[in-house]
Amino acid sequence: MTTSFPKHKIRVVLLEGVHDRGAELLRAEGFDVEALPRSLAHDDLLEAARDAHLLGIRSKTKVTAEVLGGARRLLAVGCFCIGTNQVALGEACGRGIPVFNSPFGNTRSVAELTIGEVVALHRRLGDRSAALHAGRWAKSSAGSHEIRGRTLGIVGYGHIGTQVSVLAEALGMRVVFFDIVPKLALGNARRCDSLDELLSKGDVVTLHVPADETTHGMMNAERLAKMRPGAMLINNARGSVVDVEALAAALRDGRLGGAALDVFPSEPSAPEADFDSPILGAPNVILTPHIGGSTAEAQENIAADTAGKLIRFVNNGSTTGAVNVPEVELPGQPGDGARPHRILHFHRNVPGVLSKVHALVAGLGANIRGEYLRTNERVGYMVFEVDPTDGEAIADGLHGIDETIRVRVLW
Ligand SMILES: NC(=O)c1ccc[n+]([C@@H]2O[C@H](COP(=O)([O-])OP(=O)(O)OC[C@H]3O[C@@H](n4cnc5c(N)ncnc54)[C@H](O)[C@@H]3O)[C@@H](O)[C@H]2O)c1
Repeated sequence: MTTSFPKHKIRVVLLEGVHDRGAELLRAEGFDVEALPRSLAHDDLLEAARDAHLLGIRSKTKVTAEVLGGARRLLAVGCFCIGTNQVALGEACGRGIPVFNSPFGNTRSVAELTIGEVVALHRRLGDRSAALHAGRWAKSSAGSHEIRGRTLGIVGYGHIGTQVSVLAEALGMRVVFFDIVPKLALGNARRCDSLDELLSKGDVVTLHVPADETTHGMMNAERLAKMRPGAMLINNARGSVVDVEALAAALRDGRLGGAALDVFPSEPSAPEADFDSPILGAPNVILTPHIGGSTAEAQENIAADTAGKLIRFVNNGSTTGAVNVPEVELPGQPGDGARPHRILHFHRNVPGVLSKVHALVAGLGANIRGEYLRTNERVGYMVFEVDPTDGEAIADGLHGIDETIRVRVLW
């Protein structure tokens, strides 16, 4: 595609029951949207992708190099979920196809679950409910507390940690947090200088860190021993952060007062699969099967967020939020007739490309009004704005440059 394309001809295929909000927003842009409630078998996927300009998937659809190779018109892929491993990201990058996702669309859902668990652990709700289901009337106030005035320690003060902070304070908790990056405290929360300091203060400690080398086994036996006697631990982050065996031991011998775990070092891949863990049956423990972010509202947020990124890329050229190509954040174009042509150029990132492009522009005597460039190790994404009279000629010239991967013009 070398020119601004009529919107109604932008064909969008959404698979796997992406929340309706996604189709709604894309249709509101005038795009031609087909939304299917299921994933497609291999051949059907090849067929569906062949003429699509935008492909929207969730976690089941494998967008392989073969799918990308057959999708001649594909401009971008939207993963209407958190992860992007299901897409051949390097291949998509090499073809100048941005892949977008929604890493933070379920933030609020995780924060709400966490707050619910803070209350539930303080009232031993898991055990009391299980006892009554088993026909035992365990009426007692022993070990039950209000959360008002208790101290919540938040490890990782990012998207989720900060929301938990605000909600916990609204319920009258004191909040302390620790983050390896200096973060401004929200409300009356207090920053701790070390994880050990936080562990010494928290009546309940909640983890909201990523899975990486700094957090692997972060809550091991030694760290668990630094928590206050009777304190509780919540892990709705990643399974690798907590040594579950050590946690189970600390709960069984009464050093810790309870735990809530949504994530585990090893999780079944199939729904309804059997599950085993050393923590099963430990006292005052709430276990959930990695559903922290799984709500209808999160699906809607994810759909709106991902559709929004696709729409911006099609209409404006911005790759903000793309996981596989350089991110270029572009300003809106003026709506009047004088607006410049915006040329979007993906090219192989090898020495000499920029001088070829600039020689081309100089040779045409064209006037560049604005220029943006970001690169990664494989590709460069260059966007420039030129007087309307120069757009077509430059786009045609760019096709003649060996390193060009893809050119699009917006006006
Ligand atoms: N249970 C679920 O279903 C679910 C859903 C969404 C997210 N998550 C997980 O929740 C976690 C937090 O997500 P987020 O969106 O808030 O991430 P985020 O990137 O916004 O925040 C993470 C924070 O942790 C901090 N951090 C990194 N390493 C640290 C360390 N060693 N010690 C202290 N702080 C450290 C970072 O500086 C950052 O502020 C992630 O692991 C994510 O995968 C789980």
